[in-house]
This record gives sequence, C-alpha cells and structure tokens, in this order.
Amino acid sequence: MSLPALREAARRCQGCDLYRNATQTVFGEGVPDARYMLVGEEPGDQEDRQGAPFVGPAGHVLDRALEEAGIDRDTVYVTNAVKHFKFQPRGKRRIHQKPTAAEIDACHPWLTAEMSLVNPEITVVLGATAARALLGPAFRVTRERGRPLPRSEGGFYLATVHPSSILRAPDRDAAYAGFLSDLRVAAALP
Ligand code: URA
Repeated sequence: MSLPALREAARRCQGCDLYRNATQTVFGEGVPDARYMLVGEEPGDQEDRQGAPFVGPAGHVLDRALEEAGIDRDTVYVTNAVKHFKFQPRGKRRIHQKPTAAEIDACHPWLTAEMSLVNPEITVVLGATAARALLGPAFRVTRERGRPLPRSEGGFYLATVHPSSILRAPDRDAAYAGFLSDLRVAAALP
C-alpha cells in the first residue's frame, strides 16, 4: 500500500462517529521518506476546511519553531492521531473538543500504517493526545518531554507540548522557548 492509496482509503473512513460532522478526513502530508514525522491531536477548524494538517494558528507556531530549530519542511511529514475535527457548534463558531480514548483507538490503524510507510527516524509527539496514541495512557508529556525515547522499529520518539498550548499559555514566550528547545533536541539526534 502506498501513502496516496492509504489517504484515499482514509477519505471514506467511518471507524467512529466523527466523520458525521467533520467536513473531510484530514490525512497526513509531507515527504514520503521524511526523517521527521510530527504527530498532533486532530485537525482544527482551518484544517477541517482546507483538508490539510497544521495550516491554522497552531500550524503557524509549528512552522516558525521548525524553522528556528533548523528542521527543514522538506524533511518532515505531519499528521494527527485523529483524522477528523471534533467540535461543538456555538453560534457561528465551532469549538474544538478533545477526542476520546475510543476515538483515538479507532483512528490508530491509520497512524500505524502511516508510520510504517514513512518509517521516520524521529517521531515528534505533539501533546497528550498524540502521546496517548503512541506512548500509552501512562505517559506524561510534562514529565518526559524533550527526552529521546528509542522506538522498537528504530529511531526515536521525542515528546513535547502541543503548539496550540503555547497560544493559550500565560507566558507565551516561555512556553515557546520550551517548545523550541525540545525541537532542537530532535534536530540534534543522530
Ligand atoms: N492541532 C492539531 O493537533 N492538528 C492540526 O492539524 C491542527 C491543530
């Protein structure tokens, strides 16, 4: 199976109920032989409309930090643990909701298939949802962020905060500096 075939199959996924309200499946994007795979939580409002991961406000934070960490976008594949936007309508707005454990589990086969096709050397785990999907429910990002963890298939996982948490942080500069420092650890890995 190729990545384009996998993306096409995921377009029709009804593995959980999130497909009902979302505009479309937002599959991963990037170079197929990427050195880095970045895994977020789920598409947001902009990603749901545009059909691409990390193109909204969190994506802008991520792009800036990748550039500052010296990680070239041409060496990256970006995806999410959950491939549909989950939200609560509130007037004209759509308020992001966290996926449940069952929704993360339902989407897991797509993530596993993407990982085995891309076979990245470094998997950057962005926030608690991606950490639950890839490192299990006991993993705590706050405690273990910025530390490379060997992956049984080879290479490393590197967990850090989700870029959208930086936009909500009381001290954004400090939160951004911590995120950048974690990405620099990823960039320096062999
Ligand atoms: N947040 C995510 O986790 N993923 C996206 O694609 C956008 C925002």
